[in-house]
Formats: sequence, C-alpha cells, structure tokens
Amino acid sequence: MSKEKGHICPVWAGYLLACPLRRIIHSPEKILSPFVKKGMKVVDIGSGMGFFTLEIAKMVGPEGRVIAVDLQASMLEVLKRRAEKAGVSDRIETVVSVEDSLRLDRYQSDIDLALLFAVVHEVKDPEGLFQQLYQVIKEDGLIVYAEPKGHVSQESFSSFIKMAESAGFKVERELKVSLSRAVLLKKK
Ligand SMILES: C[S@@+](CC[C@H](N)C(=O)[O-])C[C@H]1O[C@@H](n2cnc3c(N)ncnc32)[C@H](O)[C@@H]1O
Repeated sequence: MSKEKGHICPVWAGYLLACPLRRIIHSPEKILSPFVKKGMKVVDIGSGMGFFTLEIAKMVGPEGRVIAVDLQASMLEVLKRRAEKAGVSDRIETVVSVEDSLRLDRYQSDIDLALLFAVVHEVKDPEGLFQQLYQVIKEDGLIVYAEPKGHVSQESFSSFIKMAESAGFKVERELKVSLSRAVLLKKK
C-alpha cells in the first residue's frame, strides 16, 4: 500500500502546492478543461489552499458552483482569502469535513464532477470516501482521480481504483498528468 497512508499534508506544504509555478507541471486548464463546463457543480475533495479550486471556479463561471472540502479548516481559510483576491468567491463554498464524513449530505445525486487530486492516499477510509461520492454525484457524473507517483505505487493506485469500482464507478480511461497516476471515473 501507499507509503504515505495516514499522513495528512501539513499546512506549510499547502502553501507550496498552491504556488503558481506548479502550473508548469500541473496546468488546471489542461487537466480539467475537457471535463469542466460552464454552469457545472464541482466538488474538490482535499482542496488544500485551492490550487485547482480557483481555476475550476473560473471554468464553471458565475452560474456554476465549486464546493471545496478539506479536513483542515486552516487550508480553507487561506483558500477563501485567495478566492476573494481572484474575484471568484461568489461561486465557491467551503466545507470542513471530518474523517468519516465529507459533510455533503445536501448534495444527493447533484454533483457533475469530483476532483480527487493527491488526497485519497491520505484518507483513513478510502472505501467510505468513494461510497459517499457515489451518493452525491449525478448519474453519468465524473471523477478526475490523480495521485502522485512518488507517494502512491501502481499497486496502491489499483487497489484504490478497485474500491471506486466496488462503490459503483467504472474507469473510463487513463489520463496523462505529469508525475501522477490518473484516471477518469464515471458513475455507472
Ligand atoms: C496533498 S494535499 C493536496 C491538495 C490539493 N488537492 C492539491 O493538489 O493542491 C491533500 C489535502 O487533502 C486533505 N485531506 C486529507 N484527508 C482528507 C479527508 N479525509 N477529507 C478531506 N480532505 C482531506 C488535506 O488536509 C490536504 O489539504
């Protein structure tokens, strides 16, 4: 399994992950624009300080919505300040989750797309995470799921994908994301 399972990204690393230079390897537009459209409702699970959230907010436009979920309230506080500065806070909601709940109960079958970027390997109950996502994502809704190659072996990644499949998702295709293992999942 993953070397990093159980380790939660510290706040100092959150600042590094939100650094604009990261766009050189992880362009949010390149990774997400094939899937994120105007007016969509998107959840960014384990959003950290919002490296992807802010760009998704621009992609969904004023009619869309992005729900940024993170265990650490301090990450979301920084995300909110960054969203204000970027002029997209009107379409971003933040949710402080707990280990066993994403706290997204009000979004039953309502979400078009979920982003899981570098988070599943940190989650205590990944099976439960995919089961909860199944409840909130629309029929035919998507998950863009990526993990850092340095932290998550192919074996661990495959076992997480099996959990997603057991929860009711199927792999649509592999995605090309630098330094990452990544797939597109679809709700069956
Ligand atoms: C490595 S960071 C990735 C941040 C962001 N996705 C990115 O790529 O910039 C992982 C984030 O997931 C959050 N996290 C870990 N376990 C979580 C859980 N069970 N529910 C929600 N967020 C979680 C951490 O607090 C951290 O902000």
